[in-house]
Amino acid sequence: MTHLPVAELHLHLEGTLEPETIFELAERNKITLPYSDVDELKALFEFADLQAFLDLYYANMSTLRTAADFAEMTDAYLTRAAIAGVRHAEVFIDPQAHLLRGIALEEVLEGVTSALDASVANHGMSSGLIVSMLRDQSAESAMNVLDGVIALGTPILGIGLDSAEVGHPPSKFVEVYAKARAEGLHLVAHAGEEGPPEYIWEALDLLGVERIDHGIRCMEDERLVERLTAERVPLTVCPLSNVSLKAIGRLSDHPLESMLRRGLNVSVHSDDPSYFGGYIDDNFREVSDALDLDVDDLVTLARNSVTSSFADDVRKAELL
Ligand code: HPA
Ligand code: ZN
Repeated sequence: MTHLPVAELHLHLEGTLEPETIFELAERNKITLPYSDVDELKALFEFADLQAFLDLYYANMSTLRTAADFAEMTDAYLTRAAIAGVRHAEVFIDPQAHLLRGIALEEVLEGVTSALDASVANHGMSSGLIVSMLRDQSAESAMNVLDGVIALGTPILGIGLDSAEVGHPPSKFVEVYAKARAEGLHLVAHAGEEGPPEYIWEALDLLGVERIDHGIRCMEDERLVERLTAERVPLTVCPLSNVSLKAIGRLSDHPLESMLRRGLNVSVHSDDPSYFGGYIDDNFREVSDALDLDVDDLVTLARNSVTSSFADDVRKAELL
């Protein structure tokens, strides 16, 4: 399986900080962590819901301070992803989470993009960056980030929307997405992870997104399933994440198999691999063990990840 080329399309770089790295960064940057060792931190990797995870995720990323820290985190991810068979990666960064604690946008983007720029040379992997907006912050704050990225001239693939979903519908960000579209950027958004199917409709109709991140709750709305299937809208599903955050009870109950049978354009990804028990290869292995998937299904999932990417047609052809 791991020899099939796959594209990672749903990965938060800050969610790749392994516990050991968090301690190394804390020591380097003279930050006192509220845990005394790696085991104490790992013992906290039991989440009641998305917000419980986000609290720990935002706390731990405070160990990142300099462009070199961001570059190191990104390159460590690329190294691990190459082992998993990832040949193309479109990764999220959450600039607001860093701006809010006084780290400059330039520092974040310079670090991440310096590592991504070397991904082909160092890892044989094409890559791109998606700037993700925190939906529990204001639309004005998201617009400031977008303006900042444009002013810096940092090449990015597009924008996304993440963080606490319920109570923060896509409709809040119509102007931000309209501006990003006018700038020629690709558009994606998390929707239907914890939030209702209506948020998926909004992401499609009000934001004009090209991909839905998660989207698993579409299965509660037959008309929405028909729409997503007819338009082949990509859904970047993260099975281990859904179990970790209690969106799904057990992996054997995950709707991925039904989604495939309904003809939805699903692919499998890792979300926050350090926190949720594994990278894209682990997700593939665990879903193939827990669900009734055959080799053709796994090939479909891998091929969908490539066709759903924003890679150009030449790169897609190389990977298919
Ligand atoms: N959901 C929403 N926001 C996030 C996640 C997630 O799983 N990971 C990092 N930010
Ligand atoms: Zn996510």
